[in-house]
Amino acid sequence: MLFKTRKDMQIFYTAAGTKLDQEYGRIKANIIFGAKKRNAQIFSVLSQNRQEGKSTLISYLGIAFSKEEKRVLLIDGNFENPKLHKIFGIENDQGFSNLLADGGGLQETVLKTEFPGLSILPAGTISKQLETSIQSSSMDVLLQSAKRKYDFIFIDTGALQSMITSKLLAAKSDSSIIVVRRMRTNSHDLQELKTSLESYDIHVTGALFNTKKLAWLKR
Ligand SMILES: Nc1ncnc2c1ncn2[C@@H]1O[C@H](COP(=O)(O)OP(=O)(O)OP(=O)(O)O)[C@@H](O)[C@H]1O
Ligand SMILES: [Mg+2]
Repeated sequence: MLFKTRKDMQIFYTAAGTKLDQEYGRIKANIIFGAKKRNAQIFSVLSQNRQEGKSTLISYLGIAFSKEEKRVLLIDGNFENPKLHKIFGIENDQGFSNLLADGGGLQETVLKTEFPGLSILPAGTISKQLETSIQSSSMDVLLQSAKRKYDFIFIDTGALQSMITSKLLAAKSDSSIIVVRRMRTNSHDLQELKTSLESYDIHVTGALFNTKKLAWLKR
């Protein structure tokens, strides 16, 4: 469930040994394992449909990694319905899309959160020609710069079924994490998802089954 208040975030940050803390500990361990195996730092978080829990997962993950004193950057690549700035209570007047369109330094645009080591690059304000920008050299420069400054980079995306930008972002990432939501994702969705992964040559580290009790699914 998404944090209802900022206090909920702080509670999750300080919590030790709760079920949620343990579950995210497991998810984190699987990601670290997958990252080492593949020498991966950049993960896109994907789902076939809207509202399957991508922004929720990415926000908890960011805080969970912050507990371990890792340097983590969350990039909001959901240009249709950006949410990370709302969740973390930060501005969105400059962000990822502005950097892609106009260039500029990552460090000047990234915003720090109250959690040590956890920074956010909000989606920003540009909505045109993003498909081209994502495939341009400014995207590669941006990701290379992020890799030098952070241990892990997670990219939030919009539903794969409606957004080509999400597939392009995933193709630019080192690997991806798939979110599947109970009672929402059906077998047709999974078939479509598989087709996208194959045609864009997207690597998958693992999948998260989003229920009240989150579970990490092996590939
Ligand atoms: N495990 C869960 N239990 C209860 N509610 C959840 C759970 N996961 C997500 N939600 C709720 O479902 C809604 C959608 O979640 P979220 O915004 O994370 O999805 P999303 O995939 O990022 O959506 P979008 O595709 O619009 O970006 C939110 O209101 C969130 O609080
Ligand atoms: Mg979202």
